[in-house]
Amino acid sequence: MRPVEVGHRGGERAPRSTRLLGRHELPIACEADIVLVRRKARSLAQAYGFDAFATAAITTAASELARNCWVHGGGGAAVVEELYDGTRHGLAMEFRDTGPGIGDVEWALAGGHSTTRSLGLGLSGSRRLVDEFALETARGEGTTVRIVKWKRF
Ligand SMILES: Nc1ncnc2c1ncn2[C@@H]1O[C@H](COP(=O)(O)OP(=O)(O)OP(=O)(O)O)[C@@H](O)[C@H]1O
Ligand SMILES: [Mg+2]
Repeated sequence: MRPVEVGHRGGERAPRSTRLLGRHELPIACEADIVLVRRKARSLAQAYGFDAFATAAITTAASELARNCWVHGGGGAAVVEELYDGTRHGLAMEFRDTGPGIGDVEWALAGGHSTTRSLGLGLSGSRRLVDEFALETARGEGTTVRIVKWKRF
């Protein structure tokens, strides 16, 4: 099946060569791992001097996407990257699972929709909290969500 992709926001930025300063792979294999991913996002954001709002944003998005990876995707991994684009530091986080995939991406991203009687705000809320958001999913193959948050000057 053809993967469904949702592209980046903020595509108006001129392409730059981004340097990778660090990379961390964290398993999402049990509920407690969600907390570890959340902590990693927060500690890196603080270490790079993200302001309180940006730190809360990346921490919340990381937590929601790790939770989706576990609850809906049956687990997988989070890959955290420390980025520098020549001007700004950024944090990228990718959440991968090999679960059932998302059948209707538009529906899932619209907000307020859930297949588990939850609020259905994790995916749409996370998208609003970050600078870049890319989702790739294929039925029966899994889901990958990549987010980037850049530090403001
Ligand atoms: N990794 C994933 N694999 C499969 N389906 C997913 C995945 N992430 C999200 N979904 C689907 O998208 C829907 C919306 O996700 P979202 O995080 O917004 O809501 P939720 O997890 O159901 O509830 P909430 O996050 O508000 O507690 C989910 O109900 C689920 O059907
Ligand atoms: Mg969710």
